[in-house]
Amino acid sequence: MLSPLPLSLLFALSTSAFVIPKPDAQANGAHLPLKRRSPKARSFEEMGSWARAQREHLSMKYGGKSRKRSTGTNLMVNQNADSSYYGSIAIGTPPVSFDVILDTGSADLWVADSNCRTGCDNVATFDTSSSSSFDNKSTSFDITYGSGQASGGLGSDVVQMAGFSVSDQVFAVCDQVSDGLLTSPVSGLLGLAFQSIASSKATPFWEALASGGAWDESVMAFQLTRFSNDSQVQSLEYGGSVSMGFTNDTLYTGDIEYTDVVGSQSYWLVEMTGLTAQGNSVSLPSGSDSYAAIDTGTTLIGGPSEYVAKIYENIDGASAGSGDYEGYYIFPCNTDVTSSLAFGGKDWSISSADFIAGQISRSECLGAFFDLDTGGSAPAWIVGDSFLKNVYSVFRYDPASVGFAQLSDTALGYNGDDDTPVPSATIGSVAAQVSATSLGGQSDTNGASVSSPAGLLAALAVGVAALLGSC
Ligand SMILES: *[C@@H]1O[C@H](CO)[C@@H](O)[C@H](O)[C@H]1NC(C)=O
Ligand SMILES: *[C@@H]1O[C@H](CO)[C@@H](O)[C@H](O)[C@H]1NC(C)=O
Ligand SMILES: *[C@@H]1O[C@H](CO)[C@@H](O)[C@H](O)[C@H]1NC(C)=O
Repeated sequence: MLSPLPLSLLFALSTSAFVIPKPDAQANGAHLPLKRRSPKARSFEEMGSWARAQREHLSMKYGGKSRKRSTGTNLMVNQNADSSYYGSIAIGTPPVSFDVILDTGSADLWVADSNCRTGCDNVATFDTSSSSSFDNKSTSFDITYGSGQASGGLGSDVVQMAGFSVSDQVFAVCDQVSDGLLTSPVSGLLGLAFQSIASSKATPFWEALASGGAWDESVMAFQLTRFSNDSQVQSLEYGGSVSMGFTNDTLYTGDIEYTDVVGSQSYWLVEMTGLTAQGNSVSLPSGSDSYAAIDTGTTLIGGPSEYVAKIYENIDGASAGSGDYEGYYIFPCNTDVTSSLAFGGKDWSISSADFIAGQISRSECLGAFFDLDTGGSAPAWIVGDSFLKNVYSVFRYDPASVGFAQLSDTALGYNGDDDTPVPSATIGSVAAQVSATSLGGQSDTNGASVSSPAGLLAALAVGVAALLGSC
């Protein structure tokens, strides 16, 4: 069954993906309750946790870097038949929750401003004056994506997500948003890529947490659901989950196969080493022509026209689209297409349901792979949700790498399951928090951040944002 996905929506989404949330967390003062006992009575095991608690307690007290580590999970919503996936964050004092697209393809956090002049109809907006902790940075913010742009100003405030909090997260409050960029109830976007591509130049929320040691393990992991082939699909469905600080082993089986992020940390960029369609492999060049940004904020999969064309050569009856379908390929809906991508050695197959981006007539379908000629410094491939629905994906901070694993039966069971409730925005309790300004990721103070020339990175960010992003 194919969902009647409106084309305007389809195109809007395929061009608005690259979005990612930022991390903000604060350390909480809690420490392990210790039983009073003579040191001699402690077992070796107890000695370990005692020592750790002592260290954490002292470092907390004297403002050291070691903080309580933790883990957390946010449930997501699948919007408009797999077009986008969003989750909730909370901003301010008192905290107010907002739904934001979770985007590993960009690095800025922004939300609609309560003084929004255009583009914020029917979405919750942030009233900066209602938060006692909001700090106006008096700096303008501007971001351009293929499907539009958003602009406003920068500020900082407490931002919470998945049980983590960053006390002074810098983000944008946008008062001008292009029409159609925000689809109710989504109020903004949380960029989850690296700081070097942030238009705001601020440390992203996730990176503040990862570099600040707030996570047990320096990973974020996604499970995305599939509803596009469910004839009963509603505009909002259960979207899966994102975990921070751990991987949820009930959602995957086997090993997580990691591939190093290539180049300086910008996008979650890895080398694509294999591509097949209908069992035939399309040979790929090595090096940057096969670098792929792994992007939860992009609906489909974009790549160089030469290689995209070769995919469709393997599919009977496929032809290049024109007019509105320029850059896309059309193929008979009754053809089951098997395809796969490989990163580092292992092949990951894409279900035939995900190979279909949408149905355009009684018998014709659009393929999920489209021409993306980013040129120059932008990633050659943008691998979005059409692929990511087929795997458990892990974004590891250190060493910077992207991992994939096979989804478990439990994870697969959520696909097309209309009985799983759509999560609503929540403001959970905070298990761990960091201060963004005290972190290593903040650049100049320690050599830990990016070493690439700012000009090149800016061009890269603008190049891809201009094709795919939206504010
Ligand atoms: C920040 O302050 C400036 C004036 O300095 C004002 O124009 C702007 O609206 C304020 N921004 C926010 C997000 O409150
Ligand atoms: C949707 O696609 C998946 C994977 O190809 C398949 O297992 C499932 O049966 C499909 N569901 C429907 C309703 O067609
Ligand atoms: C792991 O995933 C399962 C299945 O979705 C869920 O029930 C469980 O709560 C998750 N665990 C954590 C710690 O989030």
